[in-house]
Amino acid sequence: MDDSVDVMLQEQSTRLLYFSQNNRSVALWTSAIFTGVYGLWAMFVMPGLKVPFRLKVPYVPSGKAQTMNVMKLLEGREGRLADLGSGDGRLVFEASSAGFKCTGFEINKVLLAYSRVRALWRGTPPTQANFVGRDFWKADLSPYNNVTVFLTPAVMEVLEEKLVRELPEGARVVVCRFPFPRWPHTCCKGEGLDKVWAYDISTVPKPYHSKAQ
Ligand SMILES: C[S@@+](CC[C@H](N)C(=O)[O-])C[C@H]1O[C@@H](n2cnc3c(N)ncnc32)[C@H](O)[C@@H]1O
Repeated sequence: MDDSVDVMLQEQSTRLLYFSQNNRSVALWTSAIFTGVYGLWAMFVMPGLKVPFRLKVPYVPSGKAQTMNVMKLLEGREGRLADLGSGDGRLVFEASSAGFKCTGFEINKVLLAYSRVRALWRGTPPTQANFVGRDFWKADLSPYNNVTVFLTPAVMEVLEEKLVRELPEGARVVVCRFPFPRWPHTCCKGEGLDKVWAYDISTVPKPYHSKAQ
């Protein structure tokens, strides 16, 4: 009787040991996969370790309708254009085909390399479409009389201040999906997620103009 109890207890503890070892490897595998996926996500979608957390913007490509709406609000304009966070370069290519001299600022190295290869592939010269791996918050935007923006609501107020300080009189800013909180817009185009707004620096109210300077 004692022997059979011993055997039962031994079997039970072997089963428990096997179960807990199995569980531990499941937990290890799960956390390894999770860490890997998170690492890839952080590297690809949320790069820019030096960008303060409150100013971080993930990669979300704009759709065809949104891009077309931006181009409509740039009709009749010319000169230099900066796309703040150019992603895979789609907006820059569209604008350079319309004759703008474009600079795409992009901190995601994968997207930056992809846009540059795409430019080579399309035969677009750097004078028409130049992709720079720079944080646009640290860039001087004064040479640009056209700026396109597809970022997040959280950064729009801070961006208003930077742009009003740096852009020349006569500059136009076209903003996708999330409008500026304080600036009056000149016109808009599209509906829902594809909606875009155009702002002319000359119409930004003067008291706000001088306060930001
Ligand atoms: C919402 S996506 C827009 C991409 C592109 N403009 C489009 O319309 O498809 C925002 C892009 O901005 C980039 N980005 C975010 N913060 C940036 C920064 N401080 N400097 C440069 N690029 C930035 C992201 O990596 C991402 O590719």
